Amino acid sequence: MAQAIGIDIGGTGIKGGLVDLDSGQLLSDRIKHPTPDGGQPDDVVAVVKTILAELSDAEDTAPIGVCFPAVVRGGRTMSAANVSKKWIGLAAEKLFEQALGHDITFVNDADAAGYAESEYGAAKGHDGLVIMTTLGTGIGSAIIYRNLLVPNAELGHIDIGEHADFEKYASNAVREKKELSWKQWAERLQTYYATLEKLFSPDLFIVGGGVSKHAEEFLPLLELDTPIVAAALRNNAGILGAASLAAHGSGDRPSTGAEHLVRATNPVAP
Ligand code: BGC
Repeated sequence: MAQAIGIDIGGTGIKGGLVDLDSGQLLSDRIKHPTPDGGQPDDVVAVVKTILAELSDAEDTAPIGVCFPAVVRGGRTMSAANVSKKWIGLAAEKLFEQALGHDITFVNDADAAGYAESEYGAAKGHDGLVIMTTLGTGIGSAIIYRNLLVPNAELGHIDIGEHADFEKYASNAVREKKELSWKQWAERLQTYYATLEKLFSPDLFIVGGGVSKHAEEFLPLLELDTPIVAAALRNNAGILGAASLAAHGSGDRPSTGAEHLVRATNPVAP
C-alpha cells in the first residue's frame, strides 16, 4: 500500500498523520500539537520532530510532505503572516531536512489543501476553475484549473474597500475574537467571495479550515452565482495534500519555485 506522511503547520496548531495515498484516508491517528508561541523556526521544527516520532507506525522510507502558512518558493519561506518574521527568506525546507534527517516536500498549506481536494475531495475530477479557501488563523487560497494547481496564490491578503489585508477582517480567528454571529461573519464572507467571483469567474469555491465542519451555519447565508461547498476532507486536507504531493509531486524537481505546479493524479479528460 502506498503511504506517505503529511504534516500541516498552521498558525495555531501543527497536525500530522500517515496517509493511504490510494484512498486518501488516514492510516494513523491524527496527531496535533499547538504551534509554539511566537512560531519561531527552531520551535516549530522541534514540534514536527515530535509528531514524526509519535507516528511510530510509519515506515522510515515513507515520503514526508510538510505544508506551511507562507509563500514557498524553491524551498524558502518568503512571507510570514501568522508566524515569526524569522521565516521570511529562510531556507525552510533545508532546515527541516537537516533536523529530521529525511528529505521532505515543502509547500504552502492552502496549496496542499487544494491539491488534496482535487485528488480526493470536493474537486476530484472537476474540469473547471476551482478556488479553495481555508478559513483559519488567516485565509489561505489555492487556485486549481483542470486539476492543475497554480502555486502560491495569496488571496487572503487582498484589499477590499476600506479593509486592507482582508484576512484581518474575515478569517475564522477574527470571527472567534470578535465573537461575531454566523450572520455577521457571513456578511464579511459575502464581500470576500463576491470579490473573488468578480475577479476570477470560478466554477467552484471550496471552503476549508476547521470551521468548515459548521459550514451549514454560514454557507447557506451567502448569495453567489458560483457554487460554494465545504471541503470534503474537512481539516485533514492539508495533511492529505502534503502527503500526496510528497509522493507524486517531488522527485528531481527544478528549484523554480513552481515545483508544486503539478497535475493531480486524477486528471480530467482533455
Ligand atoms: C498566509 C498564507 C496561508 C494562509 C493560511 C495566510 O496568512 O499568507 O500563505 O496559506 O494564511 O494559513
